[in-house]
Amino acid sequence: MSDPVRIGVVGTGFMGRQHVEFIRRAPNADLAAVADPQASDGAFGCPTYADARAMLGAESLDAVIIASPNALHVETAIDCLSEGVAVLLEKPIAVNYAESLRLVAAVERLNGRLLVGHHRRHHPAVAAARTALVDGEIGQLVGINGIWSARKEERYFTDTPWHRQSGAGVMLINLVHDLDLLRYLCGEVSSVQAITSSHIRGHEVEDTAVVNLRFTSGALGSFLASDAAVSPWGWDQSTEDTADFPFLPDGVAYQLVGTSGALSVPNLARYSYAAGVPADWHSPLSRAYLPAAGHSSFHAQLAHFIEVVRGAEPLVSAEDASRTLALVEASARAAERHQTVDVAEFRAEHQGA
Ligand SMILES: NC(=O)c1ccc[n+]([C@@H]2O[C@H](COP(=O)([O-])OP(=O)(O)OC[C@H]3O[C@@H](n4cnc5c(N)ncnc54)[C@H](O)[C@@H]3O)[C@@H](O)[C@H]2O)c1
Repeated sequence: MSDPVRIGVVGTGFMGRQHVEFIRRAPNADLAAVADPQASDGAFGCPTYADARAMLGAESLDAVIIASPNALHVETAIDCLSEGVAVLLEKPIAVNYAESLRLVAAVERLNGRLLVGHHRRHHPAVAAARTALVDGEIGQLVGINGIWSARKEERYFTDTPWHRQSGAGVMLINLVHDLDLLRYLCGEVSSVQAITSSHIRGHEVEDTAVVNLRFTSGALGSFLASDAAVSPWGWDQSTEDTADFPFLPDGVAYQLVGTSGALSVPNLARYSYAAGVPADWHSPLSRAYLPAAGHSSFHAQLAHFIEVVRGAEPLVSAEDASRTLALVEASARAAERHQTVDVAEFRAEHQGA
C-alpha cells in the first residue's frame, strides 16, 4: 500500500474546515499543515502558516486543497503547481473567465495535476442519472427545469464581507455548481438568456437569478437560483453532502423531461410508461426509483483527488471548470445587456484577447 498523501489546506473557513474533516476521515491522506491568516497556531493539530507561500516554503507536501476566497484561487493554485504540488481547487476556478484561462495555461505549461471542486459530479446519483440519459431511459432529452433556493443567514454576509461583493453572489457561489452539473448531464450550452435581481438583500451582487439555456443538443432549460428565498428545493437540501444543510429525503433539484419519460435528480425518480402502453399524455405514468450506491460527494471527491495526486486524469479539469465559469459569466452578461448570449462566441472573444 502506498504512503498516505500529505495534504495542506489553504483557507480554514466554512469550506476549508470541512476539507480538514474529510482528510482526517480518509484512510490514505494526512493533514500535513494549514495556511490561513486567521487560524490560530496548532488549532488543527498540525503546523499553521499565514499563507500558502509560507506553507509551501516550509513543508514537503504532495497536495494542497485551496478553500480561500475566490479572488485568491488562481494565484495560489499557480504557486502550488509551480512547486510540483497537486491541487484540489474549490469552485469557482476563478472570479472571471479571463483569469481562469491563465490557470488553464499554467496547468498545461507546468504539466500540473489539478482537480476543481465541483463536488456534485462525484455523487452516485449523478453517475446514475448520466447513465440513464445515455441509455435513453427517458428517450430524447427535450428540456430541464432546475432550482437552487435557500435563505442564507444574515451572518453569512456580515461576518464575511466578500460574500456581498463582486466576485461572489448566488451565480458564482451556487449557480456555478448547477450549471456545471447541467453541462455534465445534458451536454454543452450554446446560448443563454438571464435576468437577475438584488432587491431582497440590496447587496452589490445579485441574490436571485433566472437563466434560460439552449443546449447544443437542441434541448432547452430553465433555472432559478436564489440565496434570499426559503425552499426545500436544491441540491444541498436534497443530498447529505453538507451536514450544515438539513437533509430532506426524496428531494429534487433538477427535472429532466424526454420524449418517452422523465427523471428527477438527485432523488432519481424515473417516470415512464409500461411496455406496450402508448407514450402519450392519456396513458398512466409509473414511477420507479433508480438505484445509486452511496450518498456522499465529498468523500468520493477526496478519494478521486488522491488518485489525481498519483497521476489519474481529473474528473473536473481546469479547462472543464473554466467552461462552466464561461457559462456563468455569459449568463451574467445576458442579464446585464438584456440579450441572448452565444456561449461559443463569448469564449472565443476572451480566448482571442
Ligand atoms: N464546494 C462547495 O460546496 C463550497 C461551499 C462553500 C464554499 N466553497 C468555496 O470555498 C471557498 C471558501 O469559501 P468559504 O465559504 O469557506 O469562505 P470563508 O470566508 O468562510 O473562508 C475563507 C478562509 O480563507 C482565509 N483566507 C483569507 N485570505 C487568505 C490567504 N491569503 N491565505 C489563506 N487563507 C486565507 C480566511 O481567513 C477564511 O478563513 C470559496 O472559493 C467558495 O466558493 C465551496
